[in-house]
Amino acid sequence: MSNTIIAGAQWGDEGKGKIVDYLTQDADIVIRAQGGNNAGHTVITGGKRFVLHLIPSGILWPDKTCVIANGVVLDPVALLEEIDDLRAEGIAVEPERLRISDAAHVVLPYHRDLDRLREDTRGECKIGTTGRGIGPTYADKIERWGIRTCDLLKPRRLRERVEVRLAQVNPLLTAAGLEPADPAAVCETALAAGERLAPYLTSTVAFLHAAMESGKELLFEGAQGTFLDIDHGTYPYVTSSNTTSGGACTGSGIPPNRIDRVVGVAKAYTTRVGAGPCLTEDAAFSERLHAMGREFGATTGRKRRCGWFDAVLVRYAGMLNGIDSLAITNLDGLDGLNTLRIAVAYELHGRLLEFPPSDPEDFAACRPVYEEVHGWPEEVSGAAAWEDLPDNARSYLDRLSALTRLPLALVSVGPDRHQTIVRNAQNR
Ligand code: GDP
Ligand code: IMO
Ligand code: MG
Repeated sequence: MSNTIIAGAQWGDEGKGKIVDYLTQDADIVIRAQGGNNAGHTVITGGKRFVLHLIPSGILWPDKTCVIANGVVLDPVALLEEIDDLRAEGIAVEPERLRISDAAHVVLPYHRDLDRLREDTRGECKIGTTGRGIGPTYADKIERWGIRTCDLLKPRRLRERVEVRLAQVNPLLTAAGLEPADPAAVCETALAAGERLAPYLTSTVAFLHAAMESGKELLFEGAQGTFLDIDHGTYPYVTSSNTTSGGACTGSGIPPNRIDRVVGVAKAYTTRVGAGPCLTEDAAFSERLHAMGREFGATTGRKRRCGWFDAVLVRYAGMLNGIDSLAITNLDGLDGLNTLRIAVAYELHGRLLEFPPSDPEDFAACRPVYEEVHGWPEEVSGAAAWEDLPDNARSYLDRLSALTRLPLALVSVGPDRHQTIVRNAQNR
């Protein structure tokens, strides 16, 4: 039996949704264990495009079960909308197919207000948050003021806790000229959502362990990416959860010794949405992709900043996540370029670095050291096998694998499920 974690190896939006969808064929249960509806995972199948925010991408496979585990921060209203939208598309999202942790922390409207407020007071150092209330909800969790899904089923307890917390939060909101939150209204909406979600709520820890005992295979769908990790990312320009593979364990209650494999997902180039350093960013390359209608955020619609593949980052992601095999997506985004650049190292004050530095000023002062390789004029999106790819595309991919020291397992040449090439079935 094999339990697999899928982790983003860059700044999010690597194409995790597409790769999870592809690998779901080999799994029984697909699990989200961290992040919230700041995530946007796109899956295109049967000519339809789905963007999943909280519900694992596995839901698109009719015979698979999905779990939203304890480490996720869950906006109950947004989740119900997502459930309704999927149902409207004919996807069954019944409580038998979607189990939700009764211990997940809940995003309430005042978390979104605080998100906006904190971003506004950051002046020049804005994070570029998606504004979904993710940071303040995790902050409440760590400060032990959080509201959990189990609280949505206990009206008296919920009201008490929300009142206590809002007595602290409302002065902050009013001081900033925002409307104070009405505890009764917050609770009414949350309780109504709780009533609808009640049949889905359970101890997902017990559920997942029982599933493992009966031989089921687990697939963990990471959200965000390695360099948005609260501990290991480009702090402070990060999200508020552990996006690296360890987050799948703490966020689900499945211990590390039950994990068999970690698949890292990276684009064939680099993108970043929101603020913070991106050393290989290239204005002309960004414009080229945007002109093709590509690289707009799946959650906020913002333009993603685009640049060359940064092997320094993905090499480091390999270490942090324990990546066993690499899936490279969006190879077709490089079609038609004569020359491709790859950052193979950083130069900092005359020294060569093979891993990124932690200090933000040092990071910003690094200069990528580029290697240039030949591109390919052909379109790769029709390739069905490794042998169908142009020679230069294969050389490029082999070079990425060598520079990152990660075995290549999958190559994605288009957004559709079938546009996936298995490079090495053993690593898949
Ligand atoms: P995620 O957050 O990691 O799941 O990635 P997103 O869905 O936010 O962004 C990835 C984008 O790339 C989506 O629009 C996908 O449909 C698209 N995509 C994934 N793989 C490929 C690929 O190989 N080629 C093309 N053209 N698009 C891809
Ligand atoms: P998926 O799962 C890309 C970015 C935001 C912002 C920073 C903090 O689709 O890969 P937050 O809302 O968490 O306070 O935002 O992190 N960010 C993402 N960027 N993909 C994501 O998720 C992201 N989730 C958050 O743009 O810079
Ligand atoms: Mg995304």
